[in-house]
Amino acid sequence: MKFRILAYCAPLVFMAACSQTKPTTTAIPRLQKQGTATQMMVDGQPFLMLAAELHNSSASSLEYLKPIWPRLAAMHINTVLTPVYWELMEPEEGKFDFSLVDGQIQEAGGNHLRLVLLWFGSWKNGMSSYIPVWVKTNQDRFPRVQDKDGKGVEILSTFSSANIDADAKAFAALMRHIKQVDTQHTVIMMQVENEVGVLGDSRDRSAAADKAFAEQVPKELMDHLQQRGDDLFPDLHKLWKAAGGKTAGTWEQIFGKGPATDEIFMAWNYSRYVDHVTAAGKAEYPLPMFANVWLSGPDRKPGDWPSGCPEPHVMDIWQAGAPQIDAYAPDIYSPNFAEVAEKYHRAGNPLLIAETSAQTADVNVFYAFGQHGATSFSPFAIDSLGMPRGGGEMTPPDKLPLTASYEIVSQLAPLILEHMGKGTMAGVLLGDEDAPQTIALGSYKLEVSRPRFRRPTPPPAPAPAGATAAAPAPTLPGPPVAPERSSALIISMGPDEYLVAGSGGVSITFSPNSPGPPIAGIAYVEEGTFANGQWVAGRRLNGDENGQGKNVRIGAMGNNGRIQRVKLYRYH
Ligand code: DGJ
Repeated sequence: MKFRILAYCAPLVFMAACSQTKPTTTAIPRLQKQGTATQMMVDGQPFLMLAAELHNSSASSLEYLKPIWPRLAAMHINTVLTPVYWELMEPEEGKFDFSLVDGQIQEAGGNHLRLVLLWFGSWKNGMSSYIPVWVKTNQDRFPRVQDKDGKGVEILSTFSSANIDADAKAFAALMRHIKQVDTQHTVIMMQVENEVGVLGDSRDRSAAADKAFAEQVPKELMDHLQQRGDDLFPDLHKLWKAAGGKTAGTWEQIFGKGPATDEIFMAWNYSRYVDHVTAAGKAEYPLPMFANVWLSGPDRKPGDWPSGCPEPHVMDIWQAGAPQIDAYAPDIYSPNFAEVAEKYHRAGNPLLIAETSAQTADVNVFYAFGQHGATSFSPFAIDSLGMPRGGGEMTPPDKLPLTASYEIVSQLAPLILEHMGKGTMAGVLLGDEDAPQTIALGSYKLEVSRPRFRRPTPPPAPAPAGATAAAPAPTLPGPPVAPERSSALIISMGPDEYLVAGSGGVSITFSPNSPGPPIAGIAYVEEGTFANGQWVAGRRLNGDENGQGKNVRIGAMGNNGRIQRVKLYRYH
């Protein structure tokens, strides 16, 4: 059976899908809100960023990159996040070498890939390892963060106009150059710096920092906090209120004494610095620009993570200090992917996943786009995905689980773009311990669960000395061990119809959530693909594959990797 995708999505969206590979117009890439989501607009059309990031040093050699571009394209990646190194771009003060940038734009464009350039300027993972040697070796002119003993560390201080100016000049030169050479808009977005913040201490202890710390909290920040009021991130709100909820005072008077206040102080100062650099770049060429985040963790303190980085609890401070920054983008490597995504999809912040583990990306991608209508999703270290430990042949792109997931998501891209932010699409992420989730979507309630999978029997404990060894426990029969997590992306297509895709094992049952007959039945399920904008139906799944009409299953009976179209009906 065939039916046209145009029945499902507006012509505009359909055109967007086609435009993903062929830049044609001259509109500058920009962000645009759609309901609760934010879309990337490229060549004037919505564009779903199925992205991936290279290893840190890959972009220092065009030769090294040459075989990588086609491999990325074969993985259904459409956008590559790749660094620009200040040290190589401005090896001598005022003398710029853009050959690496130009080479990347040319190669990416030739492979129908877009680029997000990562400005490794003053900071990379808190440290200043990528600053030019002429900056590194002139500590008097370019001051550093100081520790409690007055010693400098390899982190440029935010409390220096020389540091800000040098970085801003270089970044402005980069943006001026991109504007000149990139007429096809291969570069669609910029990341300004990389995971900024002070490492090893909760704040800079230099004399300039101490002086600023003793001053009043700037009025513009206080005004912002008051305006946000109860909408502030709860931890920040609590800290402020616990210190008396004052509207004027020094940092310690407003937020109390301790590392959390030091962190807020650094967040403000990093945000002002990054805003200045960003503004200088945007004055030349106003692409969307974001800052990425090294996330804090439990049982840790500011300084264990870069103190001042736009963590969820100081994102409000950054929003006040860096109005030029369009998004705060988490680098999510922890298993609590959903929790982090939620914390960054608030207060008007577009959800851009700047980095995430490439090992779990094939599962999490369905959740990120389905539940949040994410602007972008980007696994890190993509150039080594499929490389065996210790070397050897790379796994071909078409054998990687990430390729399978990206392939499905790119088929669904026009529909995801159409539905994002409107409440007609959902995403679910489930681990072994998670209870089933109930979602109200369209005119039904969906119960989404992860089937119980058999785990391998643990080996018997060693017998105590002298005892007769216990017989090994028998291995129980059962289905094969499932991947650790499952995900689903579900789109409500109309009153009685859903599209479902995902990864791992998932089971979905339906019950009515609108007036009418009280029982939901499955009229039919078909698996299929979208090819050139048309739904091409494959098997009808009405037997064991859907429990004889009881549910819809992802990952059962060989249907993993297919989109399923579900038609429901109601009866008494
Ligand atoms: C996060 C950083 O932003 C990346 O540049 C890289 O260092 C990864 N961590 C490594 O896991």
